Amino acid sequence: MSQAKIIDGKVVSTKVRQEVKEEVEKLNQQGINVGLAVVIVGKDPASRIYVNSKKKACAEIGIYSEEYALDESITEQELLTLVEKLNHDTKINGILVQSPLPKHINENRIVEAISPLKDVDAFHAQNVGKIMIGDFDFLPCTPSGCIDLIESTGTEISGKNCVVIGRSNIVGKPMAMLLLHKNGTVTICHSKTRNLAEVCRQADILVAAVGVPNLVKKDMVKQDAVVIDVGMNRLEDGSLCGDVDFEGVSQVASYITPVPGGVGPMTIATLMKNTVTAAKIQSR
Ligand code: GUN
Repeated sequence: MSQAKIIDGKVVSTKVRQEVKEEVEKLNQQGINVGLAVVIVGKDPASRIYVNSKKKACAEIGIYSEEYALDESITEQELLTLVEKLNHDTKINGILVQSPLPKHINENRIVEAISPLKDVDAFHAQNVGKIMIGDFDFLPCTPSGCIDLIESTGTEISGKNCVVIGRSNIVGKPMAMLLLHKNGTVTICHSKTRNLAEVCRQADILVAAVGVPNLVKKDMVKQDAVVIDVGMNRLEDGSLCGDVDFEGVSQVASYITPVPGGVGPMTIATLMKNTVTAAKIQSR
């Protein structure tokens, strides 16, 4: 029985981060500093872990960062006022408002208030539209990280059957778009998809981003497919689990990403890239 090779997100992301670090040093020599503001509202433990990782990455790369940790009781107007202040802050090139926000705050309204030039998550409608057209400055962080992981295996995307499970605005939709820009033949599956297993079995490249633990089983995967697992599901025992049954699928895939240590580190590496891009754009 064959065994899939593991795509190590830590190794691939370290390389990206090293490149970003060198770019920051170059910018510093030209008198350009790079700064990121990270906004977190409330006490969601997962968000706290993500925000800490993002700040740590900034420190390692030489990006100045500011954290705004706000109480859950903050009003939408107060948050809008903070975003507006950061839009005009010349030390800050990128603004990231960690999702999810408390229910009384309209997340869309906050995202649309961020200057598109500082929108390092690429969530603003203007940047989403640019990704759709294929003329974009900011990469969608998680999807772009997935593309880097696929390409790190030497796999050519052009002409391949690519199946994306999940249609979220953050991952599924932009993932499909990036694969399409790379000339993949792309299918998006979701909760209403009929014969999910059959559709998935057509995939040379399979990306799972639904948030259902171990949804993708061995019998849904084509022999030698490349499998990317975006899932980050916290189980009752506290352990982290992906959308892919790693052990079973490893027996048929050619390459597979682990959870944790696969896609997660790539999301942060792309965020760092985008923050540098933001600084460059704003220095023009
Ligand atoms: N919550 C989960 N993933 C993300 C992300 O990539 N960016 C932000 N801002 N919030 C998130």
